[in-house]
Amino acid sequence: MLSMSLLNALDVESCLGLLLVSLLIFDFWKSKNAPNFPPGPWSFPFLGNVFAGFDCRAMDEVAAKFGNICSLRVGYDKIVLVSGYERVKEVLETQGDYFLDRVRSLPFKQVVQGNGISLSSGYKWRKQRHFTSFHLKAFAEGKNALERHVQQECIYLCQSIEEEQGSPFNPHDILNNATVNVIGCFAFGKLSDDGFVDFRNLLVNSDSMFIENIPQIQFYNAFPGIVKRFYGPHKTALLNYAKLSAFVKKQIEKHKKDWDPFDHRDFIDAYIGEIDKRRKDTEAAFTGENLACITVDLLKTGTQTMTDTLRWALLLMTKYPDVQKKVQDEIDCVIGKWRQPCLVDRVKMPYTDAVLHETQRVSNIFPLTAPRLTSRDSVLAGYFIPQGTLVICHLSSVLKDPSQWEKPDQFYPEHFLDDRRNFRKRDAFYAFSAGKRSCLGEQLARNTLFLFFTSLLQRFSFSAPEGLGPHCKDQEQIKMSQESSQIFVSLRQEKRESDLN
Ligand code: HEM
Repeated sequence: MLSMSLLNALDVESCLGLLLVSLLIFDFWKSKNAPNFPPGPWSFPFLGNVFAGFDCRAMDEVAAKFGNICSLRVGYDKIVLVSGYERVKEVLETQGDYFLDRVRSLPFKQVVQGNGISLSSGYKWRKQRHFTSFHLKAFAEGKNALERHVQQECIYLCQSIEEEQGSPFNPHDILNNATVNVIGCFAFGKLSDDGFVDFRNLLVNSDSMFIENIPQIQFYNAFPGIVKRFYGPHKTALLNYAKLSAFVKKQIEKHKKDWDPFDHRDFIDAYIGEIDKRRKDTEAAFTGENLACITVDLLKTGTQTMTDTLRWALLLMTKYPDVQKKVQDEIDCVIGKWRQPCLVDRVKMPYTDAVLHETQRVSNIFPLTAPRLTSRDSVLAGYFIPQGTLVICHLSSVLKDPSQWEKPDQFYPEHFLDDRRNFRKRDAFYAFSAGKRSCLGEQLARNTLFLFFTSLLQRFSFSAPEGLGPHCKDQEQIKMSQESSQIFVSLRQEKRESDLN
């Protein structure tokens, strides 16, 4: 009897053992790389490198070990990571056409269903991007649109900051209000006061929607059936996305009621006009659903990036008072103390322009591109990358590439100045990415940042409370200081002494 059950137990064990070996062989076969595929670290059976972290620092570590073109595996998805100016340029520009398509993390894929701009691919993406880009440029460059609106926002912004005078405060909400209003003005035109309050509250949570590169989402993408049952950032992101989307849809309905074909007040009005014109081109998908997705896309991508850049700019001014003083001297010289800054001033202000560019270079707002999907087999630096592979470009590795920048790890506005102190464009300035899928709002962002930054420094000096600012040792510490609201991002603004005299 005893020997019988031992035999049975052994049988079960050997069956389990056999099953495990078969699964491991299956895993080995399924995860096998194509010949000459970029190298990468050892990965767990079935899971791959889901624990890798997928942030900029983790990517740096993998690249340091395996080179500028390396790979990771998430479940059975292969991800190629590309770093350094030469290689990233090849992916985004030289061979850009093969690396254009997008794949989004599953949570958003289900919601947007290939709509929007940052989430779409192919013909639909090209048509939608072209239309939106035209209107963004017109808004950013038109004399009566962005400039006038941002100048008005600058007045409110300065008033809000003035109220904080004398004590440390966290500028996040004040700056966020200002950038939200700019994108809101482009998208919706004028909202009622209540509408703007709702809208701002919704966008406070927009950063929770930037979730592509966090480990939980990699888990979700690899094992959707399991992860979707649990609470986590994917659920929060979807909830916030749904709320913002519902708000936008309500605005679209309101616009439809008093739409005038001869007077387009804003982007939504212009798009509604286009829906009718392009009804026959079903593939381009000019629909109400797509309009809602694009508007959410612009709000999501446009506001947080601009707010973070401005926060960085102010923080860096507290850390480098000598730079702040030079910017203020340039403002005093070109604009004076009382006239409002305007866009034509920028060409006469190379130092301020250089400081803003350098802020974007060091601040790492957008360290990695969202994954792209290769549309055909390609070869990159001798490595074979099969069609259907995910590719992520490490933008901050370009912005800190020692072969491109004289002092990659320092805040050094001279990177953007030539020998005669004129503004100097740099090829490796990839803060807005590059190629056909680069940032759609670049012009709008650059103009808005310039007007806000110069208005603030015209009016205030920014300094750090005791124990912060100049004592922060490195960029990482500054970054942390930006993230923890109360203690670190307390900057004290004072009127410049010269203004008081
Ligand atoms: C300082 C501000 C900004 C920075 C640093 C920034 C950076 C970027 C980067 C790096 C990308 C490429 C992402 C990728 O390839 O995965 C991107 C894409 C995009 N950005 Fe921006 N952005 C900023 C402001 C804005 C603004 C103000 C808007 C719109 C109002 C905007 C709209 C978009 C859109 C729609 C895309 C997707 C383009 C596509 O997939 O074709 N961005 N941005």
